[in-house]
Amino acid sequence: MAASTVPRAAPAPVGQTEMQSLDRATAEEVIRWALQRFGQRVALASSFGAEDVVVIDLMTRQDPRARVFTLDTGRLPQETYDVMDAIRGRYGIPIEVYSPQTGAVEKMVREHGMNLFYQSVEFRKMCCGVRKVEPLNRALAGLDAWMTGLRRDQAVTRTGVRKVEVDGDHGGILKINPIADWTSDRVWDHIRKHGIPYNRLHDRGYPSIGCAPCTRAVKPGEDPRAGRWWWEQDPTSKECGLHTSPPAPHKEGK
Ligand code: ADX
Ligand code: SF4
Repeated sequence: MAASTVPRAAPAPVGQTEMQSLDRATAEEVIRWALQRFGQRVALASSFGAEDVVVIDLMTRQDPRARVFTLDTGRLPQETYDVMDAIRGRYGIPIEVYSPQTGAVEKMVREHGMNLFYQSVEFRKMCCGVRKVEPLNRALAGLDAWMTGLRRDQAVTRTGVRKVEVDGDHGGILKINPIADWTSDRVWDHIRKHGIPYNRLHDRGYPSIGCAPCTRAVKPGEDPRAGRWWWEQDPTSKECGLHTSPPAPHKEGK
């Protein structure tokens, strides 16, 4: 029987009390809990920014087979591909790469142009939908949980992030954010202490890195996400659709 057709018991629901206690746990404890509970059915979504390389380091210390996937929008900076390869070499892990559907990209750029994102928020979200959100949905199919490098102090849209939450946008699977309470300084201390490869754009004034045409360096003192979709004024709409909804209400486990 093919591995994908082996019947599998659904994992027991995670209760409110367990989620609350995980919110007080360290990143290492949260990751250990996730890997023990979900094994190969949890994976990190990685854009290979500073936060994600830290989570990769913490995950692979506990399980060298921990899974990592990335959404290759087709518009990423070369430096992001460089750090992907450096991480692959350092940790010996396969990176599961998801690309957008060719037909959807072809239709979008035929109708609206290669640089449609500069025209309106609506077109920008259309592009993120085709190049990121649809591939994310495919990446999450078959997972019981996904992990991210989200931190609460990254943006006004992220202050309510919990370390373990129910992802109502993706069928109620769990979303695990082990470094939700870390500061940027703590992330960089960890990178330096362990000599982890990181995206070289961080050294050139890019605290937050997405697609090349939609990311630029920030000035000293500017908001760390000011360089993302910099032409858009409203900070509350600066999300691409990967992380939109507030956590769904979760069911009490047994
Ligand atoms: S974004 O939504 O604005 O692009 P950001 O760059 O801050 O997100 O990254 C937040 C988290 O989203 C990352 O830590 C990572 O878990 C996930 N993520 C963002 N972009 C990607 C990507 N291209 N591939 C996989 N995961 C991603
Ligand atoms: Fe498209 Fe820019 Fe979104 Fe990348 S960040 S998917 S190029 S709109």
